[in-house]
Amino acid sequence: MSHPNGIAPHGGQLIDRIVTGAQREEFLSKADFLPRVQLDARAVSDLQLIAIGGFSPLTGFMGKADYDRVVEEMHLANGLPWSIPITLAVTEDIAAPLQEGNLIRLDDSAGRYIGVLQLSEKYTYDKTREAMKVYRTDSKQHPGVAVLYRQGNVNLAGDIWLLERNSHPLFPAYQIDPALSRAAFRERGWKTVVGFQTRNPIHRAHEYIIKCALETVDGLFLHPLVGATKEDDIPADIRMRCYEIMVEHYFPHNRVILAINPAAMRYAGPREAIFHALIRKNYGCTHFIVGRDHAGVGDYYGTYDAQYIFDEFDPAALGIQPLKFEHAFYCKRTQGMATTKTSPSLPEERVHLSGTKVREMLRRGELPPPEFSRPEVAAELAKAMKG
Ligand code: ADX
Repeated sequence: MSHPNGIAPHGGQLIDRIVTGAQREEFLSKADFLPRVQLDARAVSDLQLIAIGGFSPLTGFMGKADYDRVVEEMHLANGLPWSIPITLAVTEDIAAPLQEGNLIRLDDSAGRYIGVLQLSEKYTYDKTREAMKVYRTDSKQHPGVAVLYRQGNVNLAGDIWLLERNSHPLFPAYQIDPALSRAAFRERGWKTVVGFQTRNPIHRAHEYIIKCALETVDGLFLHPLVGATKEDDIPADIRMRCYEIMVEHYFPHNRVILAINPAAMRYAGPREAIFHALIRKNYGCTHFIVGRDHAGVGDYYGTYDAQYIFDEFDPAALGIQPLKFEHAFYCKRTQGMATTKTSPSLPEERVHLSGTKVREMLRRGELPPPEFSRPEVAAELAKAMKG
């Protein structure tokens, strides 16, 4: 679908819930009188993404009708595809005094007033159902399920406003919100743009699938996730330096935009792949890369489940094209990156390392080999691990 700013946002309109002018002044003047709810890091990310349009068409935290249909059928109540519940869960104690229809002050974890919720609904929900449907497991070992079981039993729903869009404290230069990324793509004349989600230090298999995609589209939106991740993932500041190094040394600068995705990881594998694609559609991407075990963790998902799930949707309703890639590796026989689609190699001729293995190597002071990681990136990771 066309749009003055390129591909149409999900639902047709880019949502903007950053409040300005008299309404903002009014909200600020009520600071001391509104009931308060404190948000954790994930809820702050969600609030920001709703406000900047990254979660278009959502204008707030989901009410029960949307929540139920998303959990059961991966669609919003209005019929649009949506795969992950965006909810604000609080404990019963916090929820009890809050009245539907009222404004609620939203604070970040430091107690700063950052947003407002107009409470339309409070509802309890079934955590086991959400776990089984969204994460395909109710194991508390799963990091997304663990968060779900730790959170409160009541969801607060309603439209939100963000009081101010502050610069990102660590990566201000890379905070390119959807309206800006859309403008940037237009300025460069990019008609087709591939989005790349990542939460790991960039390695050569990533580079390979990105470049395969880049051969067929006008530009790359390199869009690492910098919101909350599980404890043993490599921190975002270290990863960002790796992405910068890659763009600097190994990509044509005029075909790449590096920007941060403020979202928190859910590790919901297939369902999160759909969610990740829709977010990138809102940023203006026409294509989205889905490789092996996208957004997966442990052994909870099959290697290509995050690709198969796209077949459950009407492609026109999704409105962004997934580009699916097989497990890529360095192939000793053909002396290049490959997959089983392009190389006849035997398993022993393939170099691929898991993230866990690489972290272990780095902890022992060893560098991952050049077949796995570009040397400049390996050196940066080694330096960071020493620090
Ligand atoms: S993710 O949680 O963001 O998916 P990661 O940063 O490792 O984790 O992956 C980013 C993207 O690259 C995902 O689409 C993933 O499927 C893909 N990917 C990662 N490693 C490989 C690989 N060796 N071969 C093919 N695709 C890969």
